[in-house]
Amino acid sequence: MKDIFDKCQFGNLELNGRIVRTGTWETETEEGGFLTPAIYDRYEKIASSGTGLIVSEIFALDHKDRFFEYSSNLNYRGFIKDYQIVTDIAHKYDVPILGQLAFFYYDDGDNQKVEANEITEEGIRKLQAEVIMAAKKFSFAGFDGIQINMGNNFYLSRFMNPYFNQRTDKYGGNTENRVRISAEIIKVIKKTMDIHVSCRINPWDVRKGGVTADESIAIAKELEKAGADSIQLTARTISYLYDGNDKHPFLVYVDKLIDELDIPVVLGGSLRDMNTINEVLNNTDVEFVSMSKPFVAQADFLADWKANGEGESICYSCNNCYSKKKSTCFKY
Ligand SMILES: Cc1cc2nc3c(=O)[nH]c(=O)nc-3n(C[C@H](O)[C@H](O)[C@H](O)COP(=O)(O)O)c2cc1C
Repeated sequence: MKDIFDKCQFGNLELNGRIVRTGTWETETEEGGFLTPAIYDRYEKIASSGTGLIVSEIFALDHKDRFFEYSSNLNYRGFIKDYQIVTDIAHKYDVPILGQLAFFYYDDGDNQKVEANEITEEGIRKLQAEVIMAAKKFSFAGFDGIQINMGNNFYLSRFMNPYFNQRTDKYGGNTENRVRISAEIIKVIKKTMDIHVSCRINPWDVRKGGVTADESIAIAKELEKAGADSIQLTARTISYLYDGNDKHPFLVYVDKLIDELDIPVVLGGSLRDMNTINEVLNNTDVEFVSMSKPFVAQADFLADWKANGEGESICYSCNNCYSKKKSTCFKY
């Protein structure tokens, strides 16, 4: 019988529970990007209440990136100092924490929005070097690893998607080639740093000619082969599937994915109560689930779940926190 507060192994990390607080932007930084006491307090509540693993907010690669204004910047003056405090808070409660990198655009110096079809091989090397440096910086700040968001419509997800990538060199064509840019990054990180590498990917893409569910499993296998330590699902382009469905829409897919991989997989999206989560854990091969909005509504809700043996998030999924790009709840 699996329970959300089981101690368990997650690749090279030990977790005190199966719930992952997934990437959620903070947006309450001070002038210059510095973290505020409110942000430290939120991390304290999340880490102390029974969360198994924390993924930080999104960090954009470039200050001109679309997500930059909503997210923190790895290159602000206080990054290492501020995030050393955050990672210390997580570690005080034995909760591992990953720094999340996700970028929508890539800036090669001449053009800020270089797409997969246009980037030169020299540009690919520059991009890869910047991601590897970001992993180093996360590691210096005390993070246990990096999560590279290769899902939603982020740059590396577009690169692996035949809907966007029609390159004719070794970075385009078949699945292996479209994943190569990411696989090479993972190989270097794993060879040069002792950190966890998590990849956030889409289960499939609804666009005609986009990644299918079968291909997404093949992509995950390529990432595992390159050295990825875990896979986490995301689903921005198909998130409408969460609504009106009494069963999670990815359950069939995720069981197949888990079957094909030897590394842990995190399922997430619209999970709100302990009974449903324990039902998913005990009726499927799923071992880890992620949540975001419930933590926005109440950062320490898991403490109540743990104490009562049951519980339901007060989040009623209005999605204002997401659409208004705030990390605060608009109802509570
Ligand atoms: C306020 C807010 C901020 C978010 N920020 C991020 C982020 O920084 N990185 C990311 O990968 N996903 C981000 N997401 C998406 C969540 O990680 C998650 O995939 C989505 O909210 C669905 O899960 P949920 O139903 O548990 O909220 C954010 C979501 C919300 C609501």
